[in-house]
Amino acid sequence: MRNKSLVSITDYSKEDILEILRMAALFEANPVSKLLEGKVVATLFFEPSTRTRLSFESAVNKMGGKVIGFTDASSSSVSKGESLNDTIRTVACYSDLIVMRHPLEGSAKYASEVSNVPIVNAGDGANQHPTQTLLDLYSILKTQGTLDNLNIFLIGDLKYGRTVHSLLMAMTHFNPTFYFISHEKLRMPEEYKMHLDKHNIKYHEYEQFKDIVDQADIMYMTRVQRERFSDPMEYEKTKNTYVLKNKMLKNTKDNMRILHPLPRVNEISIDVDENPKAYYFEQALNGVYTRQAIIAAILGLELKFS
Ligand code: CP
Repeated sequence: MRNKSLVSITDYSKEDILEILRMAALFEANPVSKLLEGKVVATLFFEPSTRTRLSFESAVNKMGGKVIGFTDASSSSVSKGESLNDTIRTVACYSDLIVMRHPLEGSAKYASEVSNVPIVNAGDGANQHPTQTLLDLYSILKTQGTLDNLNIFLIGDLKYGRTVHSLLMAMTHFNPTFYFISHEKLRMPEEYKMHLDKHNIKYHEYEQFKDIVDQADIMYMTRVQRERFSDPMEYEKTKNTYVLKNKMLKNTKDNMRILHPLPRVNEISIDVDENPKAYYFEQALNGVYTRQAIIAAILGLELKFS
């Protein structure tokens, strides 16, 4: 992991993933340190973000580092026509690590090829969101006590959802059974199902889930993402398919937890928020510890806490 970009969750082996989760637990116990003193992390967000950007920036601040960057490319020289190549090569002169979110699939890989410092993909279009996956895995491990042999429900936008794509790839190491629940127009793409077939991972596809909720260990809800649709009618047809309400959780297992990468629109009713099985805000907090671990692993920091 040291000095390597994190573009796709497949850049990390099972052992790498477990090492990041072990380090995240250390950061949860020791969130404030000076490990990043003298280091600069750049956050370049060409797309909106609340959790990913702010949890990365919180992670850097808590470790005594400095953050530079932009939250809107229109305030940078991109608005004058500067290329991604030139932007990355320039920002690499000013920083030790670049965290980038960009709407184009493959942009993080491209950036990693032209950058002199490691790139962390904070989401590239509908493709991958590997740091979200690592915090999702940390959340699953904390709530279930294991990552192995779990029943994982993926619900909502499985076609364009980069978080579910990355999570599926990572969970392949841990023999899950997946339940894909989506509108027929938002099904899990074939390439991901082929990946599961190749690794003998079981999956089932449904359009509804009320009769099977009792089987879930994790219900991973996702937003139908208006910004990914080229056809607005397709968004209108699919946007209200799944709304999770508190009364639907009656027959769920005691250990079951509801995760959501957030932001939500209406797919989880607010009456679920007070249910102890709702875990999405704790999941967002886990993002700080996990991102501290990712930064430390890539920069090769020795985890000494006073
Ligand atoms: N989960 C996530 O990526 O949230 P943001 O879009 O707010 O960063």
